[in-house]
Amino acid sequence: MSKKHDIIVLGSGLAGLRAAIEAARHPELDVAIVSKVQLMRSHSVCAEGGSAAVMQPNEGDSFELHAWDTVRGADFLCDQDVVKRFVEEAPKEILLLEHWGIPWSRRPDSRIAQRPFGGHSYDRAVFAADKTGFAEMQTLYDTLQKYNNVSRYDECYVSSILTKDNVFCGVTAWDLTSGEFLFIQGKALIIATGGACRMFGFTTYSLTATGDGLAMAYRAGLPIKDLEFVQFHPTGLVPSGILITEAARGEGGYLLNNKSERFMEKYAPSKMEVAPRDIVSRSEITEIEEGRGFPGPEGLDYVHIDLRHLGAAKINERLPMIREVAMKFNFIDPIYEPIPVRPAAHYFMGGVHTDINGATPIEGIWTAGEAACVSLHGANRLGSNSTTECLVWGKITGDEAAKYASKQKAIPSPPKAATLKDEEARVFRRFSSEGKESAYALRRELQKTMDSKVGVFRTGPELQAALDKICDIKQRLPDIKVKDRGHIYNTDLLSALEVDNLLDLAEIIISGALARSESRGGHSRRDFPARDDVNWLKHTLAYYTPKGPRLDYIPVTITMWQPVERKY
Ligand code: FUM
Repeated sequence: MSKKHDIIVLGSGLAGLRAAIEAARHPELDVAIVSKVQLMRSHSVCAEGGSAAVMQPNEGDSFELHAWDTVRGADFLCDQDVVKRFVEEAPKEILLLEHWGIPWSRRPDSRIAQRPFGGHSYDRAVFAADKTGFAEMQTLYDTLQKYNNVSRYDECYVSSILTKDNVFCGVTAWDLTSGEFLFIQGKALIIATGGACRMFGFTTYSLTATGDGLAMAYRAGLPIKDLEFVQFHPTGLVPSGILITEAARGEGGYLLNNKSERFMEKYAPSKMEVAPRDIVSRSEITEIEEGRGFPGPEGLDYVHIDLRHLGAAKINERLPMIREVAMKFNFIDPIYEPIPVRPAAHYFMGGVHTDINGATPIEGIWTAGEAACVSLHGANRLGSNSTTECLVWGKITGDEAAKYASKQKAIPSPPKAATLKDEEARVFRRFSSEGKESAYALRRELQKTMDSKVGVFRTGPELQAALDKICDIKQRLPDIKVKDRGHIYNTDLLSALEVDNLLDLAEIIISGALARSESRGGHSRRDFPARDDVNWLKHTLAYYTPKGPRLDYIPVTITMWQPVERKY
């Protein structure tokens, strides 16, 4: 079945919804949001702690300070023109959400409250208790209801991006609710499908965050930038991995080892628990490796985050959700007991390569949010910069795509019918396999490999072993047997398709990490412990080839600050 829209937004998280609203402000355009999940079930609802923006320039914060914190936090691998644009746009988005009705937490004088976050030298994270992402998503969802030029394809799995002569012409999709295979034609596409940390076993991500958009962009020929930089959040709840927000430390929580020492004093004496995430995660793993952690299940040894001294009133006002999570998942009440935590895979600094407007090298395709790499975060993202990034580049890409679509006279003609048939055959080919492999078991093997060999610290031999294992799993993919042979809500088949995507992306991460013989931000090589600006102050680009990623490199844009030693 064929459908037509002017603009297709792929993904319905913060970036996708913000982009859709911006595009829908052009009443002549017909906008579609296509999402694998029901709209309000996107992973963005899990964002907890806050959104960074300069809201109090008269009280000591400034664009320059926010920019410097971001550049230093990024270990100098970000593009500084992008950072400048980000900090200047950020407060506008916060105020826009305010006007759209978001319940920001307030100061006693009723101004918007802000809290400390890791690596920021000012209390800069605007928040709604510890449910910031949920409040932001709900506000965008409500706002979207004002527009009658937006169609929704919820629970619809997009399988490929189609282009003709390097111009976007549409996507193929499997509608999980009806079982139909669709061709959705469009003039412009905005990819806003998030990251893929579900390739790790211990992660803060929702089960659905499998990087499908990133993987199909890669297969469509788009370069994937800086994917070797994976962020580990210092406080994943053991053993589930659920996020214990950085706001718990921002509000004053302590990290303690098994000697009840605030160990961050040794690693980042000026910032302590609110040092950038790469540094806190390495500190925790060092404490655990040197015997100062607590034994956890299945090798998940941990440290403690202690909130008891904050008192019940503050915990209930500022951190109600993590209290509820600790009580429901671990039977621990943080008012009375410390919480077991360790670094959990949390965020991809890399993504689809874009320019400062979110435009990709294929005409008619933009990307925003975690799926994109506009090069704001470099080698390490500061907490609370990502939800703001989703808003800022959601707006920018929605606007850019709308301007482009308005100028196009017609929707580009579709590719050959055979191309669509081939894609449908690729999606459903597993129905004809009687092999012995299970998609769930292969996913678990992938996760174990990533957890054990591509973690907070890396070495060449471990990365090579991980790459060999990925190749082995990939060879076994054709033998996956999908037991459910139905076309409607077939989560068995969906899971198999997701494994394909996760493996392609894991291969890019490991290849980039193996090649990058230095340590920078979230990429920490024990065999190359120093940052190497002479050889590695550059972005990695990975291009799809049938034999695996081909790597290339492009320079970093430096406009304000030359790299210096990064100390906290
Ligand atoms: O800890 C948190 O609340 C996460 C925030 C972020 O990743 O920006």
